[in-house]
Amino acid sequence: MDTKLVKQAVKESTCDVLIVGAARSSKGAEGKRLVLSPAAREVDHLLDGLLTTMYENGEFKGNLGEVTQIYTMGKMTARRVLVVGLGNVEQLQCHTLRRASGMAIRFAQSKGASQVALALEMAEGAGKADEALQAVVEGALLGVYSFNKYLTMRTNAHSIEQIQFMSAQAESKTQQEALKRGIIMAEAANFARDMVNESPSVLTPSELAKRASDMARQFGLECEILDRPQMEELGMGGLLAVGQGSAQPSKFIILRYRGAPQSSAPTLALVGKGITFDSGGISIKPGAGMEAMKGDMGGAAAVVGAMQIIGALKPVINVTAFVSSAENMLDGASFRPGDVLRIMNGKTIEIVNTDAEGRLVLADALSYAVREDCSPIIDIATLTGACAVALGGVRAGLFCNDDALRDALMATSESTGEKFWPMPIDDDYQEKIESSIADIKQTGGRLGGAITAAKILEHFVGDASWAHLDIASMEMIDGKTSFMGVGASGFGARALATLVLQRAEK
Ligand code: BES
Ligand code: ZN
Ligand code: ZN
Repeated sequence: MDTKLVKQAVKESTCDVLIVGAARSSKGAEGKRLVLSPAAREVDHLLDGLLTTMYENGEFKGNLGEVTQIYTMGKMTARRVLVVGLGNVEQLQCHTLRRASGMAIRFAQSKGASQVALALEMAEGAGKADEALQAVVEGALLGVYSFNKYLTMRTNAHSIEQIQFMSAQAESKTQQEALKRGIIMAEAANFARDMVNESPSVLTPSELAKRASDMARQFGLECEILDRPQMEELGMGGLLAVGQGSAQPSKFIILRYRGAPQSSAPTLALVGKGITFDSGGISIKPGAGMEAMKGDMGGAAAVVGAMQIIGALKPVINVTAFVSSAENMLDGASFRPGDVLRIMNGKTIEIVNTDAEGRLVLADALSYAVREDCSPIIDIATLTGACAVALGGVRAGLFCNDDALRDALMATSESTGEKFWPMPIDDDYQEKIESSIADIKQTGGRLGGAITAAKILEHFVGDASWAHLDIASMEMIDGKTSFMGVGASGFGARALATLVLQRAEK
């Protein structure tokens, strides 16, 4: 896909579909009124007030993501204009632009557009213009993504060949950088989506490790893959147990980025859950919906995707990624309820349900990060159905032992649109995971299941500043109205990388 930044008069825009934005405002005496983006105003003028008339006749309302198609009948070079709603102008944020951009480009794609120009720029301050452009670029590239490698009957005849991003300051360096950042962010998120969407027969722990190591080579990161003998030597009892019922060997993936080799600050760690298929093991899951468990490596995909962004943008900071990858299967060799496991840091866990495997593989990965004195440590995992029940698949649970880190993550999540919500980790929850025969019991019962899972992880983070993101059911998009379509979301890749970039700038 060809993308470029262009400064062009709306009238002469060389594309077959031009996308402009229309917001609304409820401020002022006259009630709701239309607020057109500068490009939309130009279109309105060229088409003799058509947009204003259509709005006044209730043809569109300016609701976020609402798309209206108009033919220009020779009054402009572009044959068609799409007006995309931006919602309330007072609430206009980067994420609104990202969503509107994605919705509009998906509409254009469905109508067979091949050259699309996006002119969603609103009249704003200079700094904001860069963030806004980045969001529009991300929205467009996340929006046009599709996983079609297995579609042999439906050919994708209508595919967009070129996207032009219209900018009043197209020649400015910061706008060009914003375009580049947007492309890097979206490509990495789409790389993560490809891994999550892939058939779990293909995306095994070995294949996950291969994709991570290919990426590392391409982006100049160090990569180390640990196999069973090394895991045994390190005492990774959690990862070993979870993978022992699978025909696929487990892998522990380490990616290192050294952007500040002279720095004495501790290395930031990203830790991902990489269960390439979660059958539940001996505590087998119900059949309905089990296919979604190919996405149980969504945390790992987010971490690998974030490392790609970091490798591409080269911030001045050191970051190491640790991914525990295994397949949770049923077999004569599987681990079982009743087993007691010893994690890498020496702590023991009494197994009560083999379907609560994520915390076990993460316990080893967190222990590894602690052994390397990393801080902060941020883990991301499709960990508990309880978290999805609590937050409805709209926000991911954020558990954190450091207020400043929590605030930073919350701010990042609002700007990338990958939304988190703070969850508690009070010590009162600890008694639910007490065991009479091991240091910890693996699960704490039905109530507060996301919290007790986080409390287990807390046992493996030592004194590090730590955040845990429970992204269960955020890794897959449900509903057809998303600006990203269907399937995997790549959730977390952009937010984790953005946090790292911000810390590097401090
Ligand atoms: N991978 C699942 C959690 C999950 C659920 C991810 C829905 C994505 C969507 C995890 O391994 C799991 O099965 N957790 C159990 C824990 C329970 C047995 C304590 C759960 O949530 O039911
Ligand atoms: Zn499970
Ligand atoms: Zn799982």
